[in-house]
Amino acid sequence: MKQLHKQSSGNSIRRDEEMPMSQNSPYSPKSQKYHRSFPRSINYLLREQRLLFILVGILIGSTFFILQPTLSRIGPQDSNFPKSGVSGRLGTNGMGNWVGGKVGRVPAGIGKRRMRIVVTGGAGFVGSHLVDKLIARGDDVIVIDNFFTGRKENVAHHFGNPRFELIRHDVVEPILLEVDQIYHLACPASPVHYKYNPVKTIKTNVMGTLNMLGLAKRIGARFLLTSTSEVYGDPLEHPQKETYWGHVNPIGVRSCYDEGKRTAETLTMDYHRGADVEVRIARIFNTYGPRMCLDDGRVVSNFVAQAIRKEPMTVYGDGKQTRSFQYVSDLVDGLMALMEGEHIGPFNLGNPGEFTMLELAEVVKETIDPSASIMFKENTADDPHKRKPDISKAKELLNWQPKVSLRDGLPLMVSDFRNRILNQDEGKAH
Ligand SMILES: NC(=O)c1ccc[n+]([C@@H]2O[C@H](COP(=O)([O-])OP(=O)(O)OC[C@H]3O[C@@H](n4cnc5c(N)ncnc54)[C@H](O)[C@@H]3O)[C@@H](O)[C@H]2O)c1
Repeated sequence: MKQLHKQSSGNSIRRDEEMPMSQNSPYSPKSQKYHRSFPRSINYLLREQRLLFILVGILIGSTFFILQPTLSRIGPQDSNFPKSGVSGRLGTNGMGNWVGGKVGRVPAGIGKRRMRIVVTGGAGFVGSHLVDKLIARGDDVIVIDNFFTGRKENVAHHFGNPRFELIRHDVVEPILLEVDQIYHLACPASPVHYKYNPVKTIKTNVMGTLNMLGLAKRIGARFLLTSTSEVYGDPLEHPQKETYWGHVNPIGVRSCYDEGKRTAETLTMDYHRGADVEVRIARIFNTYGPRMCLDDGRVVSNFVAQAIRKEPMTVYGDGKQTRSFQYVSDLVDGLMALMEGEHIGPFNLGNPGEFTMLELAEVVKETIDPSASIMFKENTADDPHKRKPDISKAKELLNWQPKVSLRDGLPLMVSDFRNRILNQDEGKAH
């Protein structure tokens, strides 16, 4: 009854509002509960304790936001997060992430949000060094690798780190992830490996790159392609600038790699122009360093492994063909500068110091064994005669240039190779 009464009185008020009382009305209206001069919206708020409910709601909401930082500070200490087992590598960033094995969270709005980054081919030689640097910077890193040429050992030191994930996956198949950046490295890089299954190599370059570009488009991530100096083929221009279109045999034994990478560059630019994907292209020149596959046919790893094993170093052709050799940490710095910068590229990333194969053999002899000998063999098809990057574009726009000379970098690689060769003949596994 009470309720009915209330409703009817409410209705009468509403009617009152709709039909202004005439002067001659026989009824004298009850005194108005709410002031007639208030706008209707204010009257609406004042009725039926609505204002009270709004104030209580605001109070509850503010209490939650005031208490929330305190609760999140308490949370992880009670959880299963390791406190120190993940070691000092976790420290670093000053961005409110893991610091010295302790968990601390900076209130929202202070400090930079840490990024989640995918590195395809992250268990390989270059990829694993890139992963090290991204983790050290304070990012979350997801490695995608099918372990064709990559090894778990290259990233095993990150196992147990909650900021690191390893997914066994072939990039020829699509994958769905939520990330901010994609470094796309997955592809066998040495002639021995990419010629092993040429159809798979070109599939990796074309379908793998399509899949990762599709992912970048879907989630709005920035995409970086690691292309290669091989896109210049056997160059007619020396040194090679990014504007040079190359001199490539489209039907040779190296074409699965050279043309595959050229197509990957085309796809990258088409996704940029057609779908607005933010892209970056690096053209990498010969790179060496620890964790390269033993016996992968690349000239530096060949010479170093042979000299350590006391075998003659194999020089193909007359040994006068030239290459430039970049230490891996310089490349990683260049890739990150490119990803973080504003320029699409392509950018040559390499060390312009030029060596003939015979000069390289001399440096390896000096570093490992002065008595090492050389054995000449017939050259392989389509082997470029000269290769030397012009890096003025990267110097100017990325403020990047290599710092490590061959004589400084080689000993670092040699000690890694020596350990691996002495410990086990791990090269047979590849
Ligand atoms: N190292 C160099 O001198 C050099 C020069 C030019 C370009 N690059 C480019 O840099 C990238 C890395 O080269 P790297 O020297 O580290 O070679 P790498 O062979 O050591 O690494 C390649 C990685 O990709 C993985 N991979 C290959 N196919 C895959 C697939 N279908 N799905 C998932 N993972 C796959 C391999 O298992 C490996 O871990 C490559 O794209 C290569 O073309 C390297």
